[in-house]
Amino acid sequence: MKSVLFLAMFCLGVSSAAPTLDPRLDAEWQIWKMKYEKSYSLEEEAMRKEVWGKNMELIKNHNGENGLGKNGYTMEINEFGDMTDDEFKSTMIGSPMRTHHRGKGIWKRDVGNVVFPKSVNWTEKGYVTPVRKQGNCNSCWAFSVTGAIEAQIIRKLGKLTPLSVQNLVDCSKSQGNNGCLSGDTYNAFQYVLHNGGLEAEATYPYEGREGPCRSNPQNSIAEITGFVSLPESEDILMGAVASIGPISAGIDASHSSFRFYNKGIYHEPNCSSDYVTHGILVVGYGFEGNETDGNNYWLIKNSWGKKWGLGGYMKIAKDKNNHCGIASFARYPTV
Ligand SMILES: *[C@@H]1O[C@H](CO)[C@@H](O)[C@H](O)[C@H]1NC(C)=O
Ligand SMILES: *[C@@H]1O[C@H](CO)[C@@H](O)[C@H](O)[C@H]1NC(C)=O
Ligand SMILES: *[C@@H]1O[C@H](CO)[C@@H](O)[C@H](O)[C@H]1NC(C)=O
Repeated sequence: MKSVLFLAMFCLGVSSAAPTLDPRLDAEWQIWKMKYEKSYSLEEEAMRKEVWGKNMELIKNHNGENGLGKNGYTMEINEFGDMTDDEFKSTMIGSPMRTHHRGKGIWKRDVGNVVFPKSVNWTEKGYVTPVRKQGNCNSCWAFSVTGAIEAQIIRKLGKLTPLSVQNLVDCSKSQGNNGCLSGDTYNAFQYVLHNGGLEAEATYPYEGREGPCRSNPQNSIAEITGFVSLPESEDILMGAVASIGPISAGIDASHSSFRFYNKGIYHEPNCSSDYVTHGILVVGYGFEGNETDGNNYWLIKNSWGKKWGLGGYMKIAKDKNNHCGIASFARYPTV
């Protein structure tokens, strides 16, 4: 109660001091700040409000008069609304995944004549831990990998145990990762494989900043026997999601449209399948409307908290030429 009062007073104090841009947006700015618990110094407030105003404009243009959005999805002003493009990319988006780790592995199961379900949702089946928040740390690659291992462990042991992202952030340097600055899902799987497992979130909790490696081999619980990098194909990815479980993957998430995604099937004309910078978990697929319309999507789990997108998830275009590189860096562990 106290913090609410304080915030309300703070907001009132600021609104009279901050320069007014478009007065019609003032109320929205105040509401947005309350919703996302933002507070700034007086000097910063003016600058943040301006950035926010520009982002608002972009979003309103995208959503249009009818509020339905272009390209089949809508955008919303979320907690990233006060960040510039550069700020956002440097804290939330990684560096491109290494091309030589790109999917070209051999698919061991024959998907030839198997008919896969029309839709799959592993979250519904209880194979996916709650959505988390990477915070001010480029650890998406680690969330992607722990998500894929968590699912295989539940398949094997019947227990859903959140695994330690921090363990990967702090300890996979010698595999080529760089803590909160950058990382690669391939290197992270290598670490888990050679380290003999990974700790649980409970014994090595997330801090959202890089620290010294403090892993205790006695606490390692998630051993893997190997990992498979899938060939770059959406059909193969579909087969893997249907028959194996959630799959670790990377996508081009560098566009503002991704940052402010709200709902619908994400489709970004400027998306690249080569500039793959963000690790996510593919937890299913499906279609909207009539099946014959071809509005197919992948269901992905992000690590930007539950307030982003569809409760932390996104539907992204499926069967549209490997949109945003979804099938380019797909991997899963064997346990
Ligand atoms: C997937 O399952 C979860 C949990 O039941 C549900 O909240 C979510 O809406 C489902 N997503 C889709 C796209 O069906
Ligand atoms: C796509 O990229 C072009 C060239 O960089 C840019 O002018 C345009 O605004 C971008 N479109 C979207 C929807 O981001
Ligand atoms: C879906 O489309 C097909 C072919 O156009 C049509 O025959 C069918 O009635 C449609 N189904 C629904 C539920 O709209």
